[in-house]
Amino acid sequence: MSFFVNLVTLNCWAIAQPWPFGSKDRKERLKRLVDALEESDYDIVTLQEIWSEKDFDKISTNLAHVYPYSHYFHSGFTGSGTCILSKYMIVSTLVHRYSLNGFAHHIHRGDWFGGKVVGLAELNVKGLRVAIYTTHLHAEYNRDNDLYLPHRISQAFELAQFLDHTSRSSDFVILTGDFNIEPEDLGYHIIAKIANLEDAWLKRPSTHGSNDNGMTCDRPDNCYTNKHQLKRWPEGKRIDYIMYQSGKKHIELVECLTCLDKIPGSKLNYSDHIGLHAKFKISTG
Ligand SMILES: *[C@@H]1O[C@H](CO)[C@@H](O)[C@H](O)[C@H]1NC(C)=O
Repeated sequence: MSFFVNLVTLNCWAIAQPWPFGSKDRKERLKRLVDALEESDYDIVTLQEIWSEKDFDKISTNLAHVYPYSHYFHSGFTGSGTCILSKYMIVSTLVHRYSLNGFAHHIHRGDWFGGKVVGLAELNVKGLRVAIYTTHLHAEYNRDNDLYLPHRISQAFELAQFLDHTSRSSDFVILTGDFNIEPEDLGYHIIAKIANLEDAWLKRPSTHGSNDNGMTCDRPDNCYTNKHQLKRWPEGKRIDYIMYQSGKKHIELVECLTCLDKIPGSKLNYSDHIGLHAKFKISTG
């Protein structure tokens, strides 16, 4: 027997404060995201930067007929921003809050207040134990003088350790989220090597004739991109990932594509990031 599991992840950039403190067009973007998810055929959705639990309640309530199971990972003062929606039953959840996460006196950076975490939701997928992780690591504000680099590196190490030690009884393991780390960075290799994960974007079997370079943030074709950033990163950055580990059952990656890019019939994008989705074929017996 075999079946498909289709998963999507998106950093939603949804700070629920009035502009310019909060995120531009938040309500409209989240409404349209709900519409898109309602019409999609994703089985599992992980989101980051849903900073207000009210926004999460609205999203999960409006999508309950499609995704009956959902969970918001609580942390810090504002919530961790990470959550999961699923067609499959969430059997248990666990959250780990990173020990180092910016500085409390850096009030102009939201990171410390959010209490960055990795969240785990164990799903029952047709009798298989599937561990879905979602995370959002500390932002990189200045690559040349990165005050938070040790924080992000230690978060990468804790993430990998947490995943390694909590996933051992799972049949299938998927890690999603915004790492704020590029593929050439040390943190990327710490996560992939220690937790024994494959990067779905690099392992995708076919590019479907698309010339998409997989950049997920600060893209030149995104209406929220800071033009200043484009001087240094003309194509944007790849910092959002789907990584996976095949366990005891046979797992095959069928496709991995960027998605949730342009809102149909609108000039807006869903977020300042774009989504990433991966489809896996799972064979049992
Ligand atoms: C953002 O939206 C515009 C307008 O719909 C679209 O042309 C563009 O491709 C979108 N960009 C991304 C990165 O999704």
